[in-house]
Amino acid sequence: MAAENWVFTVTAQTPTNIAVIKYWGKRDEDLILPINDSISVTLDPDHLCTTTSVAVSPDFTHDRMWLNGKEVSLSGGRYQNCLRELRSRASDVEDEKKGIKITKKDWEKLHVHVVSYNNFPTAAGLASSAAGLACLVFSLAKLMNVKEDHSRLSAIARQGSGSACRSLYGGFVKWIMGKEENGSDSIAVQLTDEKHWDDLVIIIAVVSSKQKETSSTSGMRDTVETSMLVEHRAKEVVPKRIIQMEEAIKNRDFPAFARLTCADSNQFHAVCLDTLPPIFYMNDTSHRIISYVEKWNRFEGTPQVAYTFDAGPNAVLISHNRKAAAQLLQRLLFFFPPQSDTDLSSYVIGDKTILQDAG
Ligand code: DP6
Repeated sequence: MAAENWVFTVTAQTPTNIAVIKYWGKRDEDLILPINDSISVTLDPDHLCTTTSVAVSPDFTHDRMWLNGKEVSLSGGRYQNCLRELRSRASDVEDEKKGIKITKKDWEKLHVHVVSYNNFPTAAGLASSAAGLACLVFSLAKLMNVKEDHSRLSAIARQGSGSACRSLYGGFVKWIMGKEENGSDSIAVQLTDEKHWDDLVIIIAVVSSKQKETSSTSGMRDTVETSMLVEHRAKEVVPKRIIQMEEAIKNRDFPAFARLTCADSNQFHAVCLDTLPPIFYMNDTSHRIISYVEKWNRFEGTPQVAYTFDAGPNAVLISHNRKAAAQLLQRLLFFFPPQSDTDLSSYVIGDKTILQDAG
C-alpha cells in the first residue's frame, strides 16, 4: 500500500434468474448444499437486476453495506462466508498511476464498502437474493483480483444464497447438487447460452410487491423437517425431470418445456402446503392466473405459455415467442387490468422489444 486517502472501486450488474426446476431444501444449512439439482433461466440484464459497487480504502474501519439506500449488517454468517472465501483467494492489485499496490496480505486487513440497488421489489419472491449475492461475489472478486472461473465463483455465491450460484451465467443454467460433504462439487454450469433459445419472452405479472411472510430459507427448513412429500420429490421426481428438461431446452421443445415448468412449480407449491405449518406463497390472483393459462393452452391445442411461481404470489410467464407473448399480454391486460380490484399492480417484460413488436 502507498499514499493514504485512495479508494478503489468496481461496479457490476447481475440479472436475476427464475428456476424452472426448483431448488427447495438443503442437506447442509451452513454450506448451502441442496437436496436436488435445479435449472433456471437468467433474465435479460436490462430488467430485474442488481447493480453493486464495491470499494476498498485504507480509511475504511470496517466492512459496511447499503442495500437500496439503507445500511444493512454484513455480520451475518452468509456474507461473512463469502467475504472469507474471497479474501483467501485475493491477489495483488496494482495501480501504477496512483502508486498503489495492494498485496495478497493487505486484503486480510483492508475493509470494503458495498452499495447495492435492486431495480425490482426486494424479497417479494422475485429472486432478489439471487441477483444480489451473485453481484456481490462477482464485484468483490473483480475488486480483489480473484483468479477463479465462473464455476468456482458460483460455489462462493452459493454460500451467500443457494439460487445466487445460477445468476453468474446467462441463458439456461443448472445447479448441480454435488456429492462432496465440503460442497466443492455443488456448482452452477451453463447449459446453453442466451442466444440458444432467444425467442422465448418472459412476462412477470407483479401480483404483490410486498415482502413475503415466510423467507425461502426458513420455509425450506420447515419443509425438510416436516414434509413427507419432499423426499419423494427430491429423490424420485426431480432427477427424471432434470434429464427431460435438459432435453427440452437442447431441442427448444416448447410443449415439453412448458409441461415440465408448470408441473414443477405446482409440485413445489404442493410441497409447501405439505409443510407444517403450511406455507402459502400463492394467493387467489396467482391461482386465477394458473387457471387462465391452463385454459388458454388447452384452447390453443399446444402450450404457448408456461407459468412458474417462486416463493411469492408473482407469476412468471414464459411465452413461446413474441406473437404468443403479445397475445398473452393482451389477455392478461383484459382479465387482470393493473391497479383494478385484483391486486395485480404491474407487468415487467423480460424482453423489452416485445412492447414495440406488439404494436
Ligand atoms: C423458490 O436461494 O432464496 O426461488 O439458499 O436459503 O438463500 P437460500 O434460498 P433461496 O431459495 C430460492 C428458492 C426458489 C427456487 C429456486 O430459485 O430454485
